[in-house]
Amino acid sequence: MDNTTRLQYLEAMGIESWQLRYTPPAISDLSGFQNLKGLDAPPVEIPEIPVIAPPIPPEVIQPAMIPVDNWDTLQQEVATCRQCGLCQTRTQTVFGSGNKNPDWLFIGEAPGEQEDLQGQPFVGAAGALLTEMLRAIGLKREDIFIANILKCRPPGNRDPHVDEMNACRPFLNRQIALIQPKIIVAVGRIAAQQLLNTDIAIGKLRGKVYEVNNTPLCVFYHPAYLLRSLSQKAKAWQDLQLALKTYQEIKERK
Ligand code: URA
Repeated sequence: MDNTTRLQYLEAMGIESWQLRYTPPAISDLSGFQNLKGLDAPPVEIPEIPVIAPPIPPEVIQPAMIPVDNWDTLQQEVATCRQCGLCQTRTQTVFGSGNKNPDWLFIGEAPGEQEDLQGQPFVGAAGALLTEMLRAIGLKREDIFIANILKCRPPGNRDPHVDEMNACRPFLNRQIALIQPKIIVAVGRIAAQQLLNTDIAIGKLRGKVYEVNNTPLCVFYHPAYLLRSLSQKAKAWQDLQLALKTYQEIKERK
C-alpha cells in the first residue's frame, strides 16, 4: 500500500493524532538516481526513523471509508484554521500558489511580512530572487506550485515552533497528495529538515537527491539566505541544476 493511501486510511478511521497522520518519509539516496549525484562525499548518515503507526491491513478498510479530498475543501480548511496560536497574529493564511497540476512542488518555510499581507507565498525580495532562479532553469512561477511548511506567519519572522509545524503538516501532506508532484524542492533549512525529519545542517543535506513517499526531493538554500550570503549562490545554482537533471531523468524514463 502506498503512503498516500495509508494516510487516507488513517484519516478515514478517525485517527486524529497529527503525529499519526504524518507518516515519516522514507529517506534514502534515490537508488535510481545514483548517476545524478556527482558527489565525491559519502552519503549523509541519516538516522533510522522510528515507525510511528503500523500499517493497517487492507482487509479492515472499507472503500467507503476513504475520504475524498479536493482543493476547495482544503483551501477553506486552511483559511479558517485555528489549530495553533499563529491564527491570533496572522493577517491571513497563505495557502500556496501556482499550478495545481504541476510537476514541480517547491516548499518553503513560512510566510513573511509581505506574504502575510498579500496572502501569497514568496512575494517579497526572497521571492523575487527565487523567481529569477527558476527562470534560469526555464521554469515560470505559473508552471510550479509553491507552498510552505506553515500557512501562517510566525511573529517577527521567528523560526516556526515544532507544535506549529506539527499542527500545519497535515495541510501540506494533503497538498502533496493532491498534486502528486514529480519532484519536490525543499527551500531552506527549515523545510529541508522538516521534510526529511532530521536536524542535519542544510550544508550537508544539499547536493543529494532524497526520496520522500516515492517522490525525489532536492534541497535548496533559502533565497533570503542567498540574499545575505552571495558567496553561496554558486552552490544554489548547482542545486537547481541537480534538481533539473533529476527531473529530466524522470521524464525520460516515463
Ligand atoms: N520565505 C518562505 O519560506 N516562504 C515564503 O512564502 C516567503 C518567504
